[in-house]
Amino acid sequence: RLLIIDFGSQVTQLIARRLRELNVYCEIHPYQNVTDAFLAEFAPKAVIFSGGPDSVTRDGSPRPPKSVYDLGVPILGICYGQQVMMQDLGGKVEAGQSHTAEFGRAYVTPSDERVDLLTGWFMDGSGREQVWMSHGDHVSEIAPGFEVYATSPGAPFAITADTARRFFAVQFHPEVHHTPNGATLFENFVRMAGFEGDWTMGAYREEAIKKIREQVGDAKVICGLSGGVDSSVAAALLHEAIGDQLTCVFVDHGLLRLNEAEEVVTMFRDHMNLQVIHAQEQELFLGELEGVSDPETKRKIIGKLFIDVFQKYADQIEGAQFLAQGTLYPDVIESVSFSGGPSVTIKSHHNVGGLPEKMGLKLVEPLRELFKDEVRALGHELGLPASFIGRHPFPGPGLAIRCPGEITREKLEILRKADAVYIDQIRKHGLYDDIWQAFVAILPVRTVGVMGDGRTYDYACALRAVTSVDGMTADYYPFSHEFLGETATRIINEVKGINRCTYDITSKPPGTIEWE
Ligand code: XMP
Repeated sequence: RLLIIDFGSQVTQLIARRLRELNVYCEIHPYQNVTDAFLAEFAPKAVIFSGGPDSVTRDGSPRPPKSVYDLGVPILGICYGQQVMMQDLGGKVEAGQSHTAEFGRAYVTPSDERVDLLTGWFMDGSGREQVWMSHGDHVSEIAPGFEVYATSPGAPFAITADTARRFFAVQFHPEVHHTPNGATLFENFVRMAGFEGDWTMGAYREEAIKKIREQVGDAKVICGLSGGVDSSVAAALLHEAIGDQLTCVFVDHGLLRLNEAEEVVTMFRDHMNLQVIHAQEQELFLGELEGVSDPETKRKIIGKLFIDVFQKYADQIEGAQFLAQGTLYPDVIESVSFSGGPSVTIKSHHNVGGLPEKMGLKLVEPLRELFKDEVRALGHELGLPASFIGRHPFPGPGLAIRCPGEITREKLEILRKADAVYIDQIRKHGLYDDIWQAFVAILPVRTVGVMGDGRTYDYACALRAVTSVDGMTADYYPFSHEFLGETATRIINEVKGINRCTYDITSKPPGTIEWE
């Protein structure tokens, strides 16, 4: 196994992700925990030093134990990790000056023809490689035994190596997306260290189960089940780890899609044998939302009720000490980098952020290290049906935000039916997996139509379908005219109460994905 020593970089998890993609097992440990004894016990086959926010020129800045250099295994130092390695082994690092600091895209060029070492880069004849830099300090003198393999304008030692000892140190971040060939660098590094690339998600699952058992012991755990992929996978994993110590709470706020509550509850309760409390609170939510048409007010009401209800049911589970959440790594990064930031609130997002403290519960977040596609792979591994794992995201406030204006039971009923026809169309045409999210919004207008020989005066609806990578930006999906025509016909014929269909062709920005 490979050891990543974390010096506090925002993107350390991306190193782990790159290695998982190469089917190499690795663990991240904060530098404080990595002692001589730890290293001897862990016995890594290779070590990576992450980047970090500190400056090695400062006394008391983070270091690995010196014994790491005597293990006889390959080491890769990244950014701060490079500077640590250079200084530890007898080189010099200079504190940041504005003309040598580099942030963002940069290009490294080979310093001689021995260019394919480690990276295998520069082979396309372009003579330079795009990388992503983020450093103030830089190495000013390399350590004895090292040679320079590439430079950049701000980093004379962009790639350095001591091939005899198999120590490699780079100033840039090969783990990020903006170093397009970063994966090749990791691949060459792990191959050289002798990894076969035979580690899988199955092994990750075993590891995760072990960790959950260690954390939870024989305490009880509550998990909020939303029917979404993240909480479903978290629940399935926890169940496998601790069985009946887990109780799930599924809050039915009356704003779910057609048959959704039954599908979720049946699957988890009957097929997977989880203990699920089906909180039937439709009356409460719909009652409080009566007459409310302002989007933010709707969101706030739902958010508050959700917490109240969750707490009410959780209180019934005696002796619960943990709250499980399906937090993913992108959520972790976002909350670190953006909390308290200067950005404005576009929409109050539904979340249960303050809940654990309020209830005196500790958090279990077994998916914290994973990205969405990895969560899907883990769900597959845990035996969740493919149709469940591939589901489109669904917002916490549910259909409330797809029903602009006042929410009525009648409108919700119509919306559910129209949405079901639309999704059925998309599935039938084999488009579901190409689309990030698709849904119907019922509009607060009635329009005149003619059906048979009669006049109709019914609701208009808007179909929405977008492509996106992360929900932050999105574009409308380019359905064929045939598809749109056929779908509109089906909805108007099959759903009483709708006599007009429009297709929303707004991208995000300037629009948002949901209508409210
Ligand atoms: P917008 O409408 O802001 O949505 O472009 C971006 C993504 O977030 C989902 N969304 C939510 N998810 N709680 C959630 O869990 C919410 O309050 C919420 N509001 C929007 C939306 O469905 C889309 O995938």
